[in-house]
Amino acid sequence: MSTHIGASPGQIAPYVLMPGDPYRARWIAETFFEDPVQYNDVRGMLGYTGTYGGVRVSAQGSGMGQPSMAIYAQELFDDFDVQAIVRVGTCGALSEKVAVRDVVLGVSASTDSAMNAARFGRVSYAPAADFELLRLAADVAEEKLLPVVPGGLYSADQLYSPDPTITATLARYGVLGVEMEAAALYTLAAQFSRRALALCTVSDHLLTGEETSAQERQETFEDMIVVALDALVR
Ligand code: HPA
Repeated sequence: MSTHIGASPGQIAPYVLMPGDPYRARWIAETFFEDPVQYNDVRGMLGYTGTYGGVRVSAQGSGMGQPSMAIYAQELFDDFDVQAIVRVGTCGALSEKVAVRDVVLGVSASTDSAMNAARFGRVSYAPAADFELLRLAADVAEEKLLPVVPGGLYSADQLYSPDPTITATLARYGVLGVEMEAAALYTLAAQFSRRALALCTVSDHLLTGEETSAQERQETFEDMIVVALDALVR
């Protein structure tokens, strides 16, 4: 049992999908898992374990933002010996290289967060995805003809940013999407020598103002979960 995850050792699978929204964790478990069992409801941050294709997998909400993600990722890696986490979230598109409904495979995660400055001092650490998971996700998406775009994410601390010029600068440097959790996940995975990947459906486009409908978000989210699960259990 850990502070924020009320599970016993062994109740959480070695492979975990992490949506930000705990209700998405429940939806993933009910839609894709065989025999899902809820193991956590501390603070409403729901977590479930079941099987997918005969392999044990879990789905655990992360909450929004890097401090929340870091609490759950740390406890999953350190207290429950989780080996691989795939974040399944949404991002805003910063670049014309991606369209709404594309899925960004987060190769790296730049951040404005003070969390990594506290860890690394004056070194600007580069949080990065696990290459093997990234390659598997790209392979699965290609086989299923799903639109994925590998590239950089920007893990911002503020959704309602007071300085929108920073995203334009990042886009010029090849960053594709803005979200709020991947950098903490990648940094924690590196700390514990585990594997991590962030997949983010483009829910809105910062350049064109285009947004996805609730129905479109649901459909793309489903495609992304299939990519994440198939990559994890392959
Ligand atoms: N900013 C941060 N996170 C997001 C966004 C955004 O514009 N869109 C979806 N997640």
